[in-house]
Amino acid sequence: MDMPQTGFGLWKVASEDCRATILEAVRAGYRHFDCAADYGNEEAVGEGLAAAMADGLCSRDELWITSKLWNTCHAPEHVEAACRKSLADLGLEYLDLYLIHFPIALEFVPFEQRYPPEWIHDPDADKPVMQRAAVPLHQTWRAMEELQDKGLTRQIGVCNYNSALIHDLMSYARIKPAVLQIEAHPYLTQEKLIRLARDYGIAVTAFSPLGALSYVELDMAGENDTVLNAPAVTKAAARHGKTPAQIVLRWATQRGTSIIPKSTNPERMRENLAITDFSLSEDEMAAISALNRNRRFNDPGVFCEQAFDSFHPIYD
Ligand code: A2P
Repeated sequence: MDMPQTGFGLWKVASEDCRATILEAVRAGYRHFDCAADYGNEEAVGEGLAAAMADGLCSRDELWITSKLWNTCHAPEHVEAACRKSLADLGLEYLDLYLIHFPIALEFVPFEQRYPPEWIHDPDADKPVMQRAAVPLHQTWRAMEELQDKGLTRQIGVCNYNSALIHDLMSYARIKPAVLQIEAHPYLTQEKLIRLARDYGIAVTAFSPLGALSYVELDMAGENDTVLNAPAVTKAAARHGKTPAQIVLRWATQRGTSIIPKSTNPERMRENLAITDFSLSEDEMAAISALNRNRRFNDPGVFCEQAFDSFHPIYD
């Protein structure tokens, strides 16, 4: 099965909402679900997927399920156990895609925990700092390749890698990454990185395709950071009789990336899928691409100081 171009992102969907959200999303037509151990909701997601299959809405082979290896499980001896934990939580025998969540190795914490208690509970810490682990990325990749060899996942890939890390990975990968998942939206267009991935035959998935929306409540973006009010977007929306969100999502798919927008609102879920019955003109595409400000909302510095020194300059 090929990865459906529009998937459903499960980051920040509360466990108590997962079952209803997934049932609603499957009814709306979503077949691609983007999960991660770090989202802390995989058991609840598994219940939703099981309910959708039990209700006859879809079968396992019609679904594309992605999960991700968390930063604390990069050591080769933890990779298979982490994958098996995600599989058990999701109630699945195999994943369609398993991704390295960040190119950042942190000290191991037990799987049930995700974060060391002091990271979560220290009210005085003004910046959460987790301990680094000295695990080279090539060792983690070898362990990922073994997961594919064993059939635990059909494909493997990476998230949040910059171009230098992609070149490096391609130099040693026995199994090439199928997918690179990165933050991308009109304020962070990532043209060079996307071109590089394409040259290597790696498909690109854009997370946070709507821009700042997910980050406002996390204080990682301001109310005014939204791209949905940009004239290039609202003008195209008026011309095509679509919403600004649909314009931004269409821009992303039309330039060849897949997208994983999240919405717990049934109407917006449907809206985000209804982007295949129109095309943006070359001028509209160019005007939206010109909104680029290299503005990243997802900052891995929340896990550890200097998570990625040169994250900004060499990323694009
Ligand atoms: P909600 O779940 O209430 O719909 P992203 O997937 O880019 O991270 O964005 C997710 C955020 O965008 C959520 O806050 C979600 O809120 C909101 N959102 C999702 N779809 C739309 C839409 N079509 N129009 C406006 N906001 C949306």
